[in-house]
Amino acid sequence: MRLPMLSMFSALRQTAFQQAQHSAATPLLLQKYLRKYSSDNNINAKMVAPTPFSKDFFFRQLFDETSCTYTYLLADLNTKEAVLIDPVLEKAKRDANLVTELGFTLKYALNTHMHADHITGSGWLKQLLPGSKSIIAKASGAKADIHLNEGDPVSFGRHRIDTLATPGHTNGCMSFVIHEQGCVFTGDTVLIRGCGRTDFQEGDAGHLYDNVHSKIFTLPENFRLYPAHDYKGTMESSVWEEKTYNPRLTKTKQEFIEIMNNLNLPYPKKIDVSLPANRECGVYDIPKE
Ligand SMILES: [Fe+2]
Repeated sequence: MRLPMLSMFSALRQTAFQQAQHSAATPLLLQKYLRKYSSDNNINAKMVAPTPFSKDFFFRQLFDETSCTYTYLLADLNTKEAVLIDPVLEKAKRDANLVTELGFTLKYALNTHMHADHITGSGWLKQLLPGSKSIIAKASGAKADIHLNEGDPVSFGRHRIDTLATPGHTNGCMSFVIHEQGCVFTGDTVLIRGCGRTDFQEGDAGHLYDNVHSKIFTLPENFRLYPAHDYKGTMESSVWEEKTYNPRLTKTKQEFIEIMNNLNLPYPKKIDVSLPANRECGVYDIPKE
């Protein structure tokens, strides 16, 4: 009986707080205190479960342990058409084998941006799985078979990816949204409890902040959020979680710019190799096997 009693008490306390916060009978100062107490203790937070994926939608998250990159394999289970988001060169064979084993046809290898920390697997995948095409934002300046502008849809089977221009980490960053499945792939624009650095590749902290707040944080809060990297082993977040707990993006724009301008991060180790290769869709310097 102890647990039901406790949860009943906490429900009653929550209702009392909510009523007191908005009641005309509560003095203004006390209302202010209660609102602050509620937000500090997250009493009013409403976490809504994500919508289940549809039965014809395949989702698989893959990981590269060297660059801590997540690659996402998505497919239409009826037509078997598949896409890979942010493939990594060293893992292209793994990804190609998986696509083949599962009986999929790779239609596109999509890149959220021109990465500085690893070489894209797009170029090699095109050779391993002939017929597939590479995609990146036009604004990235990188070579690809298809260049996206904001709003250009990408389809596989009956599924549709909507494209959002979210520059800030780089000038060519895009986020990919699948509304029906309730998920967004944010690249390095929003990382779990963080965001990509903005001090190279024409990065701009103010643009990143504005784009996140106007285009990603305005999506339904229960949307799953999948980043391009995670260095702590967290695999998934949600729009609500990042709106609530992201230590940088919950700040004001000025505070955010201040934080980003004072990160003093070291020069990225692989940038001198990755950028020239990624500009060519990762097709030069492909491992010979
Ligand atoms: Fe990046």
